[in-house]
Amino acid sequence: MTTSLIHELMPAAEKLMERHSNSSKEWFPHLYVPWGRGRDFVEDEEWNPEEFPLPEAVRDALFVNLLTEDNLPYYFHTIDNVFGRGVWGEWIRRWTAEEQRHSIVIRDYLMVTRALDPVELERGRMAQVSGAVVPEPETPEDTLVYVALQELATRVSHRNTGKLIGDPVGYEVMARVAADENLHYLFYRDLVSEAIPVDPSAVVLAIDRQVREFEMPGTGIHNFTARARSIARAGIYDLALHYDQVLVPVVLRHWKLEEIEGLSAEAEEARTRVLAYMARLESLARRLAERRNSQELVDA
Ligand SMILES: [Fe+2]
Ligand SMILES: [Fe+2]
Repeated sequence: MTTSLIHELMPAAEKLMERHSNSSKEWFPHLYVPWGRGRDFVEDEEWNPEEFPLPEAVRDALFVNLLTEDNLPYYFHTIDNVFGRGVWGEWIRRWTAEEQRHSIVIRDYLMVTRALDPVELERGRMAQVSGAVVPEPETPEDTLVYVALQELATRVSHRNTGKLIGDPVGYEVMARVAADENLHYLFYRDLVSEAIPVDPSAVVLAIDRQVREFEMPGTGIHNFTARARSIARAGIYDLALHYDQVLVPVVLRHWKLEEIEGLSAEAEEARTRVLAYMARLESLARRLAERRNSQELVDA
């Protein structure tokens, strides 16, 4: 079943690959980096956060977002194992190359502005990339559903991080990267749409698993849980954003989970389960958002 899905989606992947090539514009990381603001580091120089004052949560977000981009070769490995041939191979190689552009531009920006401790960052990168922790979805359908959600989540997170940097140049860097993530998201989102008529039950089973088990990329990063909490508190990426800006537009509005027809009994059950899960998530997200708003009022 799964090998045939990869085969059946080949024409769709070719069409989407072409759309991607036409809509993505060549851009150069070095043109986004404010080199004139840099200076040499002296050996044993301690990093001084005062050189670029920034809320801790924004530093956490930059750290996590950059290390996630650095870890992309392992996503490549996972996806290459599942797909790999023909246009699929062409796409994932292109995708990986674009993702590397993201880590180049973000890292150069951070080094020049000194927004992050370069020693902590480099140690974090070594640990993250050596650890090779990435999600390994169990089927091709799971892989497509996961990356669609993940690319959109990353777009939201990069954008919100950029807004809070408080530097127009940093904003542009993150917005540029977010624009790429959007094209990646569209590629995967539309492949899932194409997979639905091919095997609706397999896709629904994958949506059920991936929505319930979803984790932002970054597991494996040093102090990930604490950093993720701080990112959520700052409103860069939290449950409410995840529900409103990722799950609702993709799963309900675009894939129209509630309307998919021709499901097996098992897939019907999975759909009921994941819809109930999303309803619980929504009320939890609302409560958390209310709590944050009232905390903001108290703080104000
Ligand atoms: Fe990226
Ligand atoms: Fe991406």
